[in-house]
This record gives sequence, structure tokens and C-alpha cells, in this order.
Amino acid sequence: MPTLKLPDEPQPLALLQKIQWIIKPLEFLETCAQRYGDIFAVPVGRGSEPIVLISNPQAIQEIFTADSKQLDSGEVAGIKLPFLGQQSLLALSGERHRRQRRLLTPPFHGERMLAYGQLIRDITEQVTSRWTISEPFSVRSSMQEISFQVILKAVFGLEDGCRYQQLKQLLTARLNPRRPLLLTIILLFPSLQRDLGPWSPWGRLMRQQQQIDELIYAEIQERRSQPDPSRSDILTLMMSARDEAGEQMTDVELRDELLTLLVAGHETTATSLAWALYWIHHLPQVREKLLQELDALGENPDPNAIFRLPYLNAVCQETLRIYPVTMFALQRVVTSPLQIMGHKFEPGTLLAPCIYLTHHREDLYPEPKLFLPERFLERQFSQYEYLPFGGGNRRCIGMAFAQFEMKLVLGTVLSRWQLALADSKPVQPVRMGLLLGPADRVRMMVTGMRSQNQRIRQTSSSPA
Ligand code: HEM
Repeated sequence: MPTLKLPDEPQPLALLQKIQWIIKPLEFLETCAQRYGDIFAVPVGRGSEPIVLISNPQAIQEIFTADSKQLDSGEVAGIKLPFLGQQSLLALSGERHRRQRRLLTPPFHGERMLAYGQLIRDITEQVTSRWTISEPFSVRSSMQEISFQVILKAVFGLEDGCRYQQLKQLLTARLNPRRPLLLTIILLFPSLQRDLGPWSPWGRLMRQQQQIDELIYAEIQERRSQPDPSRSDILTLMMSARDEAGEQMTDVELRDELLTLLVAGHETTATSLAWALYWIHHLPQVREKLLQELDALGENPDPNAIFRLPYLNAVCQETLRIYPVTMFALQRVVTSPLQIMGHKFEPGTLLAPCIYLTHHREDLYPEPKLFLPERFLERQFSQYEYLPFGGGNRRCIGMAFAQFEMKLVLGTVLSRWQLALADSKPVQPVRMGLLLGPADRVRMMVTGMRSQNQRIRQTSSSPA
């Protein structure tokens, strides 16, 4: 039975733990796991309430399968998202959350998702065409540009133009603040969220947000007054969706969900892509194997064929295992007494599956600090052992889309470019706002273009 450390730390210790969590999150989590086992409570949330972090697959299964009447997330669990709004999927709970998820899910799956394949490839080619031979560039910035454009075009359905440029500029400033540590601190301490005029950090954020909202509402109004059924972007699909009562989403719901999809989907995908490119070029044998697999598909392969490549899939899975961009899933609050693995939790207790610690369990992933994609070819992991996208009724709505995007971007980049890391030093993970990302922006260099001949040579020398 794991040792349960429930919230009983004296205040100064809680503050010290919170500071450690902000500055060195992984060391903090690992030290706690060594000291307390796979269920323990620490002050890692926004308020002063501790969160019980769990990295035991059986306990995670119990959380992901618990009835939402007993365990729920959203605002009731203390998730406050002033920028995203109260109708954001992340803020909703209970029946309203279920309704909104049903409306939002279809565009991110199946045929509808596959239809964005060409768009993702075109954006990747356009952004990477700016790379020049021997000139180091920041991989993370390039990947941010790609994932941002994918969301603005596939989700918002914006075409290049004045509104697109204005929104891009404002959202880029909003999502990549000049002082990310300051923003993290403000977000973790709600008492600092005060509008003291346009030059105060919070005041500046509020004004930026107002300008963003005006542009989004203008876009929604335009779409309502000139509906175009031939459009296939996610905003159009959301606008035509109806719930069981035949109701459509309101303007405020549309605005809140657009921003939620942007915030939840942009940085997460860009950071994961930057990590993937780092690992692929840090470990030459991984790159070789990937190229053999990609080249065997021939010129201009079908996006669906890229999506199904086993080794590419294993590389993406291992990328999201070793340094998951979100260290733990959304916090859930116990709403009626709940037992998990024999531990009793009272109403009001906050629980969250700890993705990072679960992915670093020796019993599941031997030598967890090593990047070994083969582990995903040799063994199937359950959704409670491998959970980069969380699970249960809050599982990431963009999971399939993000994996599709990652594979298509990697496939397009690797088939076209020969790249090398600008620095051979191992890159360490660090906190980036609420996410975990590479310590520097991963600098790489183009060393050449891959010619068609090279691809054919590679294919003919690959093992049958
Ligand atoms: C590699 C990329 C991504 C990762 C690692 C990731 C990870 C996650 C995680 C861990 C959660 C919390 C799940 C839970 O608590 O059980 C989540 C929720 C969510 N994600 Fe993602 N995500 C990614 C990309 C995306 C994309 C591309 C979108 C949409 C465009 C998206 C939209 C959402 C939304 C809306 C939620 C909230 C779901 C709910 O509350 O019901 N994510 N994501």
C-alpha cells in the first residue's frame, strides 16, 4: 500500500515547496516520489489548496473511470481561466461540459481531421522554406509558427489578410509573453491579478484580451451574416453543430472555445514537435530508421499513410513519454466521498494523475531517462500507464489531431531537409509557463536538401 501524505504541511514549508515546484519542477516531483511514494499531496496548484498527485496506474484507472458526479474538473475544481472565459471546455463541469464536448469532438476526428492533411503540409513547407543552409535557427520558434498557423487556418478558418495579421500579432504577444516567469507567478498567485493600469502586467493582459475579443467577435458576426456551407474549418463546423435540444452555440461559447483550442493546442503541439526534432537529430540511429520508413512510402505520400507509420508513431509516443508537455493532467475535485486504492478522500480534495511520474516508473519503462522508441513497438501500454493526453471524460479533445499534425510535420521536414543540431550538448527540460519544454529553443542548422535520388538510394538500401 503506498504511503499517503495528505495536506498537513505547515505554511512556510508549503510556500517553499511551491517555490521549488516553480523553479525546478522535475527535481521537485522526483524528490516527492522518492520520499512519499506514488500518491502524495503538494501545493502545486493556483491557490493554497494542495493537490494529491497520483502516479499509480491502478489509482489512475479509478480516477479516469470515476463517475463525474463524484469527481469533476473545471471551475468547481478551482481551474480559473480569466483569459479563456467561463464557457471554456476547461472551465465547465457536469452536464454543461458533456454537452460542449459532444459539440466540439467531431471536427477533431476521422475523415474531417484527415482533410486538414494538405493544409498542415503546405504550412510546414511554407514556414521551413525560410530556413537557409548553415544558418542556425530556433526549432521551437519554427514549430510555434507552424502550429499557430495550423490553428488559425484549420480551427479559426482565417485566411491571410488584415484580421489574420492583427490576431496573429496580438495572440503571439499573448501566448509568448516577454517575461514568462512573471506570468507564471501571476497565474499561480491569484492575489496578483489586479488591473493597475495599462503598464501593470495584469492591466496590459486585460487590454490585449479586449482587442483579441473584438477581432474574434467581428469574425463570428461576419460568418453569421454570410454563411458559407462549403467551408471546412472547425469554427464553421462548431457554428453548424446542434445539441440534443437543437440549440446551437452562442457567440460567447464560440469565442471561449476558439481561445481554448488555441491555448490548449498551440504551445503543446509546438513544444512536442521541437522535442521530437531534437531527439531525432540527437540520436542518429533514430533518424536513420525514420528515414528508411518514410522513404519507403515514395514521393508525396498520402497523409493517412504517414499517420499509420509504426516507427514514426513510436518516436512521437516516446517524445511525449519522456518529457510530457503537461506534467500532470487537469486537477479533479472530489464531490462526494471517494475511495481510491483503499485511500478515502473527502469532498473538496483535489486529485490529479501525474503524467511525468507515471511515465518515469521503472516497472513500466525500464531505464526511463533513455529515449527508446522501440519500447512502444515491443509492448502495448494501457491508457492508465501512458497518458500524455490525460484520460477519462477530460481526455484531450485534440489528441488525434495533435498526433496527426506531429507526424505530418515531422514527415514533411525529414523528407525534405538534412538537419543537424547546432550544439551537441544534451538539452534539458525546464518549466515554460505551465508547460515543460526544452531549456534552450533547440537550435539547428540546415546542412542540405534531401534529393529524390537520396530518397531512392535510402529506400533500396533499406532492409526488406
Ligand atoms: C501534443 C499536443 C497536446 C498535448 C500533449 C495535450 C495534452 C492535454 C492534456 C494532458 C489535457 C488534460 C486531460 C486530462 O486532464 O485528462 C488536455 C486537455 C485538452 N486539450 Fe490537449 N494536448 C495537446 C494538443 C491539443 C490540441 C491540438 C488541441 C485542440 C486544438 C487540444 C485541446 C484540448 C482541450 C480543449 C482540452 C480540455 C478537455 C476537457 O476539459 O474536456 N489539445 N490536453
